[in-house]
Amino acid sequence: MSTAKLIFEGKEYEFPVFEGTEGETAIDISTLRAKTGAITYDHGYGNTGSCKSSITFIDGEKGILRYRGYPIEELATNSKFPEVAYLLIYDHLPTKPELLEWRRQLTNHSFIHEGMMNFFDHYPPTAHPMAILSAMVASLYTFYPDSETNEQVELNIRRLLGQAKTIAAFSYKISRGEPILYPKAELSYAANFLRMMFGSPAEEYVVSDVQERALNQLLILHADHEQNCSTSTVRMVGSSQANLYASISAGISGLWGPLHGGANQAVIEMLEKILADGGDYKKYVELAKKKDSGFRLMGFGHRVYKNFDPRAKIIKKACDEVLNEMGISDPLLDLAKNIEDVALNDDYFIEKKLYPNVDFYSGIIYRAMGFPTNMFTVLFSIGRLPGWIAQWLEMRKDPDNRIHRPRQIYTGENKRTFIPVDKR
Ligand code: SDX
Repeated sequence: MSTAKLIFEGKEYEFPVFEGTEGETAIDISTLRAKTGAITYDHGYGNTGSCKSSITFIDGEKGILRYRGYPIEELATNSKFPEVAYLLIYDHLPTKPELLEWRRQLTNHSFIHEGMMNFFDHYPPTAHPMAILSAMVASLYTFYPDSETNEQVELNIRRLLGQAKTIAAFSYKISRGEPILYPKAELSYAANFLRMMFGSPAEEYVVSDVQERALNQLLILHADHEQNCSTSTVRMVGSSQANLYASISAGISGLWGPLHGGANQAVIEMLEKILADGGDYKKYVELAKKKDSGFRLMGFGHRVYKNFDPRAKIIKKACDEVLNEMGISDPLLDLAKNIEDVALNDDYFIEKKLYPNVDFYSGIIYRAMGFPTNMFTVLFSIGRLPGWIAQWLEMRKDPDNRIHRPRQIYTGENKRTFIPVDKR
């Protein structure tokens, strides 16, 4: 095995180097502080690997994304969300019997405990559904506290995957004062969610094939993305041996921020603002280049992708298909395409390698399907659930796992003596 040498304060130190299955190289500095007394400093962890993982591979320079080795393009075209969730969690594509049983279980576990129903009564109608989802997921533990054995964890995984979409749909219906619809055994995961969101007890809800296909594709595209902010949060919380629901609830909160999963909501709000301001998108692209403007092109840029986010390419194509098949023309889509054209030919964005990311177009489809803007990040959460679960399980099964506890460099006051208040 090769090594990396460090010369520090006149002494030379060697650290082991290892490679991943895709040729990525890491310098193992686990003994750095013990050997040198110093720590590394890596603001925002852009150069720091927190774990080894066999779940998702991203090559940011080439715009490659694979789940358990399968290219995202193939999964988004040929698979459905429950199947991809199974793949991420169990590391293989299910056989037909495995898939049928998996889907049956997810449907059976789609009903939330009736004791949770009154939780919804006390949120204001304006409550952001991410706050409700995060709180309700953590509260699942109060109804299902058994989480020690593998069997109990497996059951909790099915409950979480099944119930999250129900919690989301119920929070939407109740916020509108509309009657809720319970899941139906004969419907697919995506169809059940669409019906619970947009159906009415007054008439049979007809599931649109276009929307069901688009929703499956969107959930698949969001299903995992290696050690992003929210997944790292799930691992951080889970590393203390907190239960699955607590860990995932933390991940939901981490995803909420506009720099992360909240960007899909921020993109639509940005496009609506530009449209309301006369649609002069070139003015806003220029504004995004001015650091002190405080304005960023939401949905653009990525910590890892320095090329096109492959998910954005697929969603952009799906935008046209879904809107055409639904007979909708959305001025925000035209605006988004114009912004993309201008930005991708602008030196600022080219030099900084800023491309559209997964959030740039996803909101356009969600809007076309009737989802309210404040639910877009909830949809991202439902899609990311299997990824969070798979990453949490991988950490839980890792015999070398230890509680995550980064160090710091202290920059505060040196030692000083306490002065009683009447002498200050
Ligand atoms: C997701 O990590 C993941 O994998 C996340 C995700 C997943 O699936 O989990 O892919 C999902 O979160 C996608 C990203 C969604 N967020 C946005 O679209 C928000 C807008 N984007 C930016 O805020 C930013 O690009 C980030 C947050 C995505 C990445 O931030 P970084 O890596 O910390 O980059 P940075 O802020 O240091 O920017 C580098 C430079 C800066 O200029 P300089 O200081 O070098 O002069 O690029 C500029 C930034 O000002 N820049 C932008 C910009 N993004 C970066 N300038 C204008 N508009 C932007 N959107």
